[in-house]
Amino acid sequence: MTAARQTLPADLVSLSDHEARARQALDAGVWAYVQGGAADELTLRANHQAWQALSLAPRVLRPLAHGHTRLRLLGRELAHPLIVAPMAHQRLLHPHGEAATAVAASAQGAGFVLSTQSNTPMEDICRLVRDEAERGPLWFQLYWQASADATLQLVRRAEAAGFEALVLSVDAPVSGVRDAERRHPLQFPPDVHAVHLQGMPVPPLPDLLPGQSRLFDQLLLQAPGWDDVAWLRAQTRLPLLLKGVTHPADATQAIALGVDGLILSNHGGRTLDTVPATAQLLPAMARAIHGAVPLIVDGGLRRGTDVLKAIALGASAVMVGRPVLHGLANAGALGVAHVLRLLRDELDVAMALCGCRTLADVGPGVLWPGA
Ligand code: FNR
Repeated sequence: MTAARQTLPADLVSLSDHEARARQALDAGVWAYVQGGAADELTLRANHQAWQALSLAPRVLRPLAHGHTRLRLLGRELAHPLIVAPMAHQRLLHPHGEAATAVAASAQGAGFVLSTQSNTPMEDICRLVRDEAERGPLWFQLYWQASADATLQLVRRAEAAGFEALVLSVDAPVSGVRDAERRHPLQFPPDVHAVHLQGMPVPPLPDLLPGQSRLFDQLLLQAPGWDDVAWLRAQTRLPLLLKGVTHPADATQAIALGVDGLILSNHGGRTLDTVPATAQLLPAMARAIHGAVPLIVDGGLRRGTDVLKAIALGASAVMVGRPVLHGLANAGALGVAHVLRLLRDELDVAMALCGCRTLADVGPGVLWPGA
């Protein structure tokens, strides 16, 4: 990658500074696409507010020397529990798109999940970061395609490229009702494409009969079901995680089918509005899973204290979405690395001030009783 030299303005000291700066820089259509949520954006706002509403319990005079944020996840040791969430079309934010994000995540030891709807081929991403000793896990996010064959094509490409796990997103068989995007429609630049989907065979949809619905009688005919998850589990040796599970009963069913991890996510409030915040859903989900598989949570995490609270409520690790795109818009790879570094540093401080030397010390006790 030939990067133009970029520097960071000194007034960027938090993720909300990155957000404010990105908002100024981006045009209304791109901003609506990145930042918008479904309908009245109640879930979008609740995600962030629910982390903020939890209070922490500082503990004093505890031994903290040689503390760290290391953890084991799916058989690997990671430096910290931050993973970059899969997000489509990153070249809307910066010409280097997903390549910049992947390099920055790798430099910060964070996990990186590449979206099916990436603007950069998956093989290029793997080549860039695969051999970096300090990088975090490299996962491919899968959207079920119009047929099992087409889905399997993506799986085989991801395996051959060197991805270490598949993340099947199951919460968006249809796009949410996004008022912000309808008010400010996004004009895709001619050189920004979902490169993995170009040339994919698209079987013809049946004609609609009078009274039939375009959604239920056409588009959703291709939506995956539990049988497809079972089928996919049998097709690949890669660990398979399901993203977008919010109901404990769905989590139990997924575990029974042999999935290797679950991502508690409401898609950052972008699909169904008025779903509870993920912080509110996390305790019940952790109880239902009972440590059977790793539980990752995303949605509205904007501070190291939010990450600490997620671990305290039972998450193994967290995913971060929009703030990464803000960093990317502001300063390419440097901006993404800065966002991740800020979160890491804030997590360290939060742990120390709550008397936690390692993540194993982070439990419900770091939350103020009754918080
Ligand atoms: C997303 N998200 C998403 N999820 C997914 O599984 N595949 C995808 O292609 C995308 N694309 C996407 C684009 C944009 C612009 C955003 C903001 C989000 C959802 C994403 O992975 C994650 O669940 C949320 O973004 C997490 O919430 P926060 O951190 O953005 O509040």
